[in-house]
Amino acid sequence: MCSIPRMTAEEAAAMIKHGDTVAFSGFTPAGSPKIISRAIAAHAETEHAAGRDYKIGVISGASTDPGVDGALARANAVSFRTPYQSDKDMRTAINAGCIRFFDMHLSMVAQNVRYGFLGPIHHAIIEACDVTDEGEIVLTSGVGCAPTFIHQADRIFIELNKAHSKKLRGFHDIYEPADPPHRKEIPVYTSRDRVGSDVVAVDPYRIVGIIETDQADAGPTFRDIDETTQKIGDNVANFLVGEMKAGRIPDSFLPIQSGVGETANAVLCALGNHPDIPAFDMYTEVIQDAVLKLMKEGKISFASGSSLTFSADTMKEFYDDIEFYREKIILRPQEITNNPEVARRLGIISCNTALEADVFGNINSTHVLGSKMMNGIGGSGDFTRNAYISMFICPSTQKGGKISTIVPQVSHVDHTEHSVQVIATEWGVADLRGKAPNERARLIIERCAHPTFRGELLNNLAEGGISHTPQDLQTAYEFHESFRKTGNMHS
Ligand code: COA
Repeated sequence: MCSIPRMTAEEAAAMIKHGDTVAFSGFTPAGSPKIISRAIAAHAETEHAAGRDYKIGVISGASTDPGVDGALARANAVSFRTPYQSDKDMRTAINAGCIRFFDMHLSMVAQNVRYGFLGPIHHAIIEACDVTDEGEIVLTSGVGCAPTFIHQADRIFIELNKAHSKKLRGFHDIYEPADPPHRKEIPVYTSRDRVGSDVVAVDPYRIVGIIETDQADAGPTFRDIDETTQKIGDNVANFLVGEMKAGRIPDSFLPIQSGVGETANAVLCALGNHPDIPAFDMYTEVIQDAVLKLMKEGKISFASGSSLTFSADTMKEFYDDIEFYREKIILRPQEITNNPEVARRLGIISCNTALEADVFGNINSTHVLGSKMMNGIGGSGDFTRNAYISMFICPSTQKGGKISTIVPQVSHVDHTEHSVQVIATEWGVADLRGKAPNERARLIIERCAHPTFRGELLNNLAEGGISHTPQDLQTAYEFHESFRKTGNMHS
């Protein structure tokens, strides 16, 4: 019988050396450790004050608790960061060239670690709601890449978080595929299939210490749905109803994948509230507030995801009624939620948010004006490339109408025209399936661009002359150039 030692966050942090790579559990602030990273940041500041170098490599599932990305970035304690972040201070440090950030499809993080592509993992810091002396680890509200980090790391630290109930046991479905040439199909045939274990099992002697905390997840707060996002949501819902009526979506509907943020939340509400859309399943990565609300109303039947990224009130509602959700929610590693094989098999309908789209259907999800990293590609590429129907949504303008999100050419490409089937803004929906570039361009301008930008977009298209993909390379970036010079994309 092993009794795993208890220690403080400071004692754990002292074991993490300059140059080490540290992998953090969770997906978004859900399931992310919260206190050892803060102690590492304080340790880094002490080292820097003493004139010594101290930086670590940081790998996570996706974004993290502010105690990881925010605290470590402010302490100048990060050498490299992957695969996704959304913290203001981390973003600033990345865009200032102080942190090497490499953006990655989220489905690939775990396998890239196992293949050795990211170097050794010296420490895994894992949030759990329970850990037994036999080495059974029960994760909390987010899974991410925790199973792989646990299996691959030299040392494991467990943050035992009492803010999460041990009743979470049974919500997780932990499954790691074998690596090539031995990989077999992942046996998920419906969103509801359980294929793994409810715990991560590990030799308890590999756990260096347990650190106790009771800090709640730093959940998101959502603004009330505004007119623009409501219209985007309604446009998406009406489009999908049309697809059902045309017989291209079965009457029982298909699983929905929905991206992060305000607009994605509004789309989910619109889908849930549409009288002609039956109760549907989600096969997604982040389970947000809207999902729980719609589940309670019987409009979402089931949700498979990698995290419960809830506001504090919704998390309380979940715990107050946890038995109601037990048979309706599965939390899986992101390698499975975002798996291309499974997405293609289930026929998911993907709906993600773009920063900008060009008139040919290429999408920029990550780089503001082509050069400043926003968050990262996240799972949008995993889903878009493999969806039954792949959709992108965004408001037609940003920054009070000065920026058109529909541009002649995107300033950075995350998703190419080959993967993108539908674009929707508050003005309408452009269905790009079976359309040539010329047709796509006119459709996107007519249906999705803000009316004040349509003329300039059409002029730009005309400057390209007659061609398969008409564009004038001299003026392709004139919207962006104009914004750079004048702060307005209108020339
Ligand atoms: N040019 C310049 N700035 C732009 C812009 C553009 N084309 N589009 C948006 N912005 C700015 C907004 O003005 C806003 O700025 P602010 O924070 O100063 O107000 C900011 O970017 C965020 O825009 P918002 O409309 O509030 O975005 P959101 O919360 O809906 O998120 C993404 C949009 C694209 C940033 C977000 O969805 C994302 O990171 N996507 C990539 C990963 C992904 O798709 N994950 C889900 C996969 S499952």
